[in-house]
Amino acid sequence: MPSIEAVNLTKQYGAFTALSDLNLKIEGTKCVGFLGPNGAGKTTALKMFTDLIKPTKGQALINGVNVHTHKKKALESVGTLIETPEIYSSLTPRESLTMIAEIRGIPHAERKKRVEEVTAELRMEEWIDKRVGKFSKGMKQRICIASALLSDPDVVLLDEPTTGLDPRGMSEVRDIIKGLKSKNRLIFMSSHILSEVSDVCDEVAMIDHGKLIVYDTLPHVTAKFSGGNNVVEVGLVRPVDTQNVTRNIAALPDVVAAEKITDKDLKISFIGGLAVQERLLSDIIKLNIGVVSYKAASSELEDVYLKLITATL
Ligand SMILES: Nc1ncnc2c1ncn2[C@@H]1O[C@H](COP(=O)(O)OP(=O)(O)OP(=O)(O)O)[C@@H](O)[C@H]1O
Ligand SMILES: [Mg+2]
Repeated sequence: MPSIEAVNLTKQYGAFTALSDLNLKIEGTKCVGFLGPNGAGKTTALKMFTDLIKPTKGQALINGVNVHTHKKKALESVGTLIETPEIYSSLTPRESLTMIAEIRGIPHAERKKRVEEVTAELRMEEWIDKRVGKFSKGMKQRICIASALLSDPDVVLLDEPTTGLDPRGMSEVRDIIKGLKSKNRLIFMSSHILSEVSDVCDEVAMIDHGKLIVYDTLPHVTAKFSGGNNVVEVGLVRPVDTQNVTRNIAALPDVVAAEKITDKDLKISFIGGLAVQERLLSDIIKLNIGVVSYKAASSELEDVYLKLITATL
């Protein structure tokens, strides 16, 4: 099982502590968001996970191997996108990726196949032989993610992969990241955008001022900090009428409010933890209103996030 682990991982710049005794073990194939405001220490941690900077104290381990003392072995199984590399505008994605594969030491015989595999995985076949020059930022970012996948890593570290993209580019890159999970990989992705983390990730590790605040699944984090009042969003395949919402859904046990966000999206507030949430989902499905998605509302997580961040100020 892929894993990343920080043991008392600390980085000091002179008297300033950028990361303070981070202890975090993430194991399994899933996507974990690394959430924190500007300056929280996300990039600092990610850089120590790839030996771009040296810890002042503690260790960073990938699949149990110390990144600093056994760099080559540890980094064999990692793909990273930490500092966005410049892509030569006169080259095509195929040429760029082949060049990067060569630099990474991927054997000549395998290069062509790997380049084609990552191209297919990131759905770039159409423009693989076009010059990068006129590409949008989103397309360039896909090439960068593709290059992180060249060695077929089981651990992928991404530092704010959607920063600097327009909304369409962001959504494209998020979809790509969601797809990365399907290949038995552990994805660890930093972000300061909450809705992004709740959209893309299964779990969240929050840091602020160099300190880990919480690491848990998204529903647990929301349940733990929301003071018992939880919100879920339910997506429907067909429009639901308002009466149905106010009469039937709002009347379900433990529900305090139910409202339509759009014709096919509902926001439901309820009191209770995961057990109540589990029953609520089954109750809503029994109403036969065409439920196709169900998730903890990002607004709720946002409250949690803001609460945590202010608490540490
Ligand atoms: N080389 C350095 N020398 C001194 N201080 C540094 C250095 N690199 C980072 N820092 C400081 O360490 C802290 C953490 O920075 P880091 O880049 O890890 O934050 P971040 O969570 O990635 O933030 P952002 O969301 O802005 O990318 C910041 O206060 C930053 O100014
Ligand atoms: Mg950063």
